[in-house]
Amino acid sequence: MLFTPTRDDTIDRAAPAPVDPAFRADVLRGLGQPHKAIPARWFYDMRGSQLFEAITQVPEYYPTRTETALLHAHASEVAKRIGTDATVVEFGSGSSIKTRILLKAMPRATYVPIDICGEFLDEACEGLAALFPQLKIVPVEANFMNPVNLPVKRDEQAMLGFFPGSTIGNMTAAAAVDLLRSMRGTLGAGSHLLIGIDRVKDPARLVAAYDDAQGVTALFNLNLLQRINRELGGTIPVSEFRHVARWNESASRIEMHLEARRAIRFEVAGEAFHMEGGETIHTENCHKYRPGEMRLLLAAAGWSELEHWTDPQGDFSLVLAKAEDDRQTP
Ligand code: AVI
Repeated sequence: MLFTPTRDDTIDRAAPAPVDPAFRADVLRGLGQPHKAIPARWFYDMRGSQLFEAITQVPEYYPTRTETALLHAHASEVAKRIGTDATVVEFGSGSSIKTRILLKAMPRATYVPIDICGEFLDEACEGLAALFPQLKIVPVEANFMNPVNLPVKRDEQAMLGFFPGSTIGNMTAAAAVDLLRSMRGTLGAGSHLLIGIDRVKDPARLVAAYDDAQGVTALFNLNLLQRINRELGGTIPVSEFRHVARWNESASRIEMHLEARRAIRFEVAGEAFHMEGGETIHTENCHKYRPGEMRLLLAAAGWSELEHWTDPQGDFSLVLAKAEDDRQTP
């Protein structure tokens, strides 16, 4: 395995990184509340991104390989429906295999990756340009959580949004609807959306997918504490925390937490915090949906389902939806 645990109780002061004020604010706010929680987006520093890639390879984490197989099976149907010369707008730039599968089926496409991080965008574009020399790539550095003004002529091209990976599941249903509605605004009338969404299944399989035997997901979760120590001058005793993944039936989601093994005190950015033994920091929600719930989620944001593909086990859904017209209803 590529990733061995680092000495997790050390405070790595070797390479001071510049402080991101938004990270600092989220961490201090999150640790200061009665139920401690830190937004999952802060998982993805360099090591966190590498660990996430490693998660996608562990046997228990089925979503990536299942969605990849679905894309292989259905990309040409998508291309046939939308047109091989469509503009593909990816929300969050993916240099990954999944984007390549889709673009391979659409040889005359224009590719518009949207990402808040210019570095990720550059990397994604370089990789794809090498693989698809004919591909027209129009990168957009923006926060796709808000409507984005695309530098393409939306009315003259078929527009296809692409949002794989069940990233939608990392949001609450309300936030997911807001984002899907915003995507509809970005893509415009008559557009399509190809989205991957993970399904509800046996909780034991779900928990295993988020608490793999090799401990890669545990390292991914604990890396957040190391990042806090490194970037925010924290003194968190990381080895005094353990990774917890649990199924919350009523909220239909896997929750990831970092649980203190004993009562501890630590500082972050000069502020003091205390945790009881057994108390947790909630770090991620991964909502799982049933097919009917997916349809409703999309409909609430103005999308109607055209195709719904799944694997033989019914583990994961790949959904093609169309932006509904803004017309008056009874
Ligand atoms: C990025 N996201 C869709 C992953 C998921 O499955 O919710 C993040 C993840 N967290 C732990 N394992 C994977």
